[in-house]
Amino acid sequence: MPTFSKLIVCLLLFVLATPVLNAQDQEQQTYILQNIQGRHTQTLDGLWSIIVDPLENGYYNYRWQPRGDGYFMDRQMEDPSELIEYNFDTDELLMVPGDWNTQSEKLYYYEGTVWYKTNFDAVLHEDQELYLHFGAINYEAKVYLNGEKIGEHVGGYTSFSINVTGKIKPQENLLVIKVDNKRKREAIPTINTDWWNYGGITRSVKLVYTPKKHIYDYFIQLNPDDKNEIIGWVKVQPANFGEEVTLSIQELGSTIQSKVNDQGIALFSLQANPELWSPKSPKLYEVMLSYEGDKLVDEIGFRTISTKGSKIFLNGEPVFFKGISIHEEAPFKTGRVTSVEEVRVLLGWAKELGANFVRLAHYPHNEEMVREAERMGLMVWSEIPVYWTVLFDNEATYQNAEQQLEEMIARDKNRAGVVMWSVANETPLGDARLEFLTSLVVRAKSLDHTRLITAALEIHSRKKGENFIDDPLGRYVDVIGINSYCGWYGGTPDSCKDIKWESAYDKPMIVSEFGGGALQGLHGKENERWTEEYQASVYRNNIEMLKNIDFLAGTSPWILMDFRSHRRHLKRIQADFNRKGLISEQGVKKQAFHILQDYYSTIEF
Ligand code: GCU
Repeated sequence: MPTFSKLIVCLLLFVLATPVLNAQDQEQQTYILQNIQGRHTQTLDGLWSIIVDPLENGYYNYRWQPRGDGYFMDRQMEDPSELIEYNFDTDELLMVPGDWNTQSEKLYYYEGTVWYKTNFDAVLHEDQELYLHFGAINYEAKVYLNGEKIGEHVGGYTSFSINVTGKIKPQENLLVIKVDNKRKREAIPTINTDWWNYGGITRSVKLVYTPKKHIYDYFIQLNPDDKNEIIGWVKVQPANFGEEVTLSIQELGSTIQSKVNDQGIALFSLQANPELWSPKSPKLYEVMLSYEGDKLVDEIGFRTISTKGSKIFLNGEPVFFKGISIHEEAPFKTGRVTSVEEVRVLLGWAKELGANFVRLAHYPHNEEMVREAERMGLMVWSEIPVYWTVLFDNEATYQNAEQQLEEMIARDKNRAGVVMWSVANETPLGDARLEFLTSLVVRAKSLDHTRLITAALEIHSRKKGENFIDDPLGRYVDVIGINSYCGWYGGTPDSCKDIKWESAYDKPMIVSEFGGGALQGLHGKENERWTEEYQASVYRNNIEMLKNIDFLAGTSPWILMDFRSHRRHLKRIQADFNRKGLISEQGVKKQAFHILQDYYSTIEF
């Protein structure tokens, strides 16, 4: 990892570099099979056979060596004398997508390996390519097709695809996945988090059919420095120099061609005067890409997001971020969100609050959440789970974090609603941490000039009783997030309204978390912890505090809905749930919901 001083130079070079998505940028991009939902797919969702394997007996022999005849072979008894000590078909079933913790009582606390198995038919024509696409698997996946290992993935919240052309047969393909959600100190996130370690194939699995020559990835956005220029690139497979890619936006009366360069990239620059995307008018355009018979349509919005001093500007106009933080916890059934209906319930509650912004904590949410937020006019803060005290001096940990950052940006880079990438949450001060995080900031800026970079930080200093923002990372992010729990983790609720804030940086600050817990339906006096009245008092007084911060650009209080956490044991009150939600996991609003709603109703956009 580059030394600290080199990083600064490197960062300054990127910051000064004019934001043009040119061929040079492409060398550094991470490419993923873009826009799955716009393609010809075959779902593999449904009930899969599983084997719970805490000692990984299906992977290691008794000498703890990887075994050649592991469960990924799905061996069938061919002779009654054969010894086979596993059988997917007589074992159990789990729904994909879905976490295993909420599907099976005995897997509620389970952390370890579960083997998943399904079979599928696939008729592939000779002029087609076939990919296996996974929305997300938490946490580590080893993928086997017809007994052969075809890929691995680490990271519980980002998607990945594997090209399986030439590896499948028309019928009865065997797909086995070893899923391991064991927490590890060196992982991202690290060993402790304040959310449930939901394991499993938590998002959809699809087969994706493409023509041999196809559009693989693309990045089409408004030039951050020119509202009348749409710029971007399209990556095709295989990289055929000189062939033509067409980009057309009918509604803008624009169609242009560009030739593929020697890196398989076609660069675009299009003069246009699009209606800009905003929460009030979440305008999306149908963008059609075509290459050698492959056609792909996406809905893309065009906007600019920038900062000047302590203000954030959307399309050149100052905007106040009326937000709310959200975990990817399903309402009612709980567990991981697995449907667009659940997404619409959560985001519908955010809209009911009067929000124009959602902080999707603390990891990249499923793609539907991001696309629906964009359609509903909600700006998005998207974050990687560099959460609390990860191993900042461990190179492999950094590489893992950078990979998850690249995958987060790769999947959602065309979503105008996403306005900020966050590289961390509540990380402790230190040189190794600063180097780790500034490296991520530099990487994010090198991948995407069209968004702001942020992180949720903590208050480490006070000057004359004032909250003083002086975290050194503040020098490198565009927007400073601050988590502050006056009235819950310190101070009494009524002490909050008098707190003053000062910042060492002339930058926008978002209070990315404040709040307190309440058991929905528990009532009492304002000084009684866990009553709705106590939580309401925390909100009333923190809102008064916010009104006194002249460099405040917005807030995303913690949190929209109660969510499951291993850290919340108080029986009858928490019972494995973090109760800081404005709404219970059964969808019942608490008093504080209306206090925040009233506050937002007083703020012009
Ligand atoms: C922290 C953290 C959250 C956590 C919250 C809490 O700020 O960022 O992930 O859930 O506090 O303690 O409830």
